Amino acid sequence: MNNITIRQETPSDYPAVFELIKSAFENLEHSDKQEQFLVERLRKSKIFIPELSLVAEVNGEVVGYILLTEISILDNGQLSGNSLALAPVAVLDGYQGMGIGGKLILEAQKRAKDLGYESVILLGHEGYYPKFGYQKAELFDIYPPFEVPSENFMAIELSENTLKNIKGIVQYPVEFGI
Ligand SMILES: CC(C)(COP(=O)(O)OP(=O)(O)OC[C@H]1O[C@@H](n2cnc3c(N)ncnc32)[C@H](O)[C@@H]1OP(=O)(O)O)[C@@H](O)C(=O)NCCC(=O)NCCS
Repeated sequence: MNNITIRQETPSDYPAVFELIKSAFENLEHSDKQEQFLVERLRKSKIFIPELSLVAEVNGEVVGYILLTEISILDNGQLSGNSLALAPVAVLDGYQGMGIGGKLILEAQKRAKDLGYESVILLGHEGYYPKFGYQKAELFDIYPPFEVPSENFMAIELSENTLKNIKGIVQYPVEFGI
């Protein structure tokens, strides 16, 4: 599909984004079905970066959404470095499998890099994200603050070696409820 526009979300998109996240996660086993409320909390938080809250539009309809927010990595309780959490990414049911999710991920990474961010970390399906360059976070000595199979906790360097001197446990802001 080539008539996809990716652009920064505006407040007038909020209702459409809420509904699309709700419906995209509705039938997912590994979901608490609360992702639409997470986004509402994150938008109001100090770690929200408006430039990295993006929608995908097809023929004027919002069909996809991605959000990257700031997180810290702590090594023995001391700040080792900052990164971004990718959560969530969602595409409306009837538009999945057309490359829209991939476009959102790559565009968000590009815009993040342009803003000076160095890496992205996520919890997600091991069959999907590696094709965009994500690797197990443990390969960078980075770990989640919760129990999860290591193949589901992934990271990407937005430039070479940006995670080389960063290690430890990801600290999620309170808005994530972790
Ligand atoms: C995950 C999601 C954002 C992907 O968006 P999309 O536009 O459908 O993805 P793309 O078209 O870029 O990529 C489709 C490919 O990803 C695969 N894929 C999609 N979701 C997947 C999943 N959960 N696990 C493994 N593979 C997945 C498809 O099989 C397809 O593979 P192919 O390219 O080899 O045919 C979308 O399916 C979605 O909103 N799912 C429900 C919400 C969700 O799971 N969000 C991610 C939470 S970690």
